[in-house]
Amino acid sequence: MNIKTSASLLAADLSDLRRETARCIDAGVDWIHFDVMDGQFVEQITYGAPVLKRLKPYCSLPLDVHLMVENPARQIEFFAEAGADLITIHIESSCDLAACLKRIRELGMRSSLAVKPDTPVESVYEYLPLCDMILVMTVEPGYGGQGFIPEMMPKVKKLREYADAHKFQNLDIQVDGGINVKTAESAKSSGANILVAGTGLFKADDMKAENSVLKGLSK
Ligand code: DX5
Ligand code: ZN
Repeated sequence: MNIKTSASLLAADLSDLRRETARCIDAGVDWIHFDVMDGQFVEQITYGAPVLKRLKPYCSLPLDVHLMVENPARQIEFFAEAGADLITIHIESSCDLAACLKRIRELGMRSSLAVKPDTPVESVYEYLPLCDMILVMTVEPGYGGQGFIPEMMPKVKKLREYADAHKFQNLDIQVDGGINVKTAESAKSSGANILVAGTGLFKADDMKAENSVLKGLSK
């Protein structure tokens, strides 16, 4: 399976996102992961569509937006206009999920649904026709730098098996939280193909080498 990496800017030097994005491009990262927090769905507030829009001209990589917000519906148009390529909304958020996923696609982006650690993965099954990707959280959303929860791997495995058995072979499965060279192996062998890494990539001595190991290109 073709493994892609998505660098979570939450762990970057936030005073210099342009340079940090360039560092990701040089390192061979595949996507940029943009964590949006509203202070309600999770405690913290990070950044929104105006920041993404300013970054877009300097970023040749797909922008992977993770909305950790209580009401994602009102954000979808803003992020489309700002240049997002993919939007993930949470199944636990307060919105018409099917309508939001459809709207994301109508606006020309890829659509994705996320599940928090306590949410059963079966809850996404009915939405699979509307999703290009499912994000299985491997930490509680809200903060970067937390420890990977290995108990999430059976969820990934179950989802991959279900997707393959129900003609969703092209479904991307993303894992997010605590992914590094030590934890990536179990995520990949469970069926995940998109690895979000914040701390793992930005705090590595050599981001390019770290990225290659995550992707399975070198040891
Ligand atoms: C957590 C965010 C993650 C996080 C990943 O709420 O969704 O994207 O920043 O960071 P690391 O890789 O440091 O766990
Ligand atoms: Zn994230």
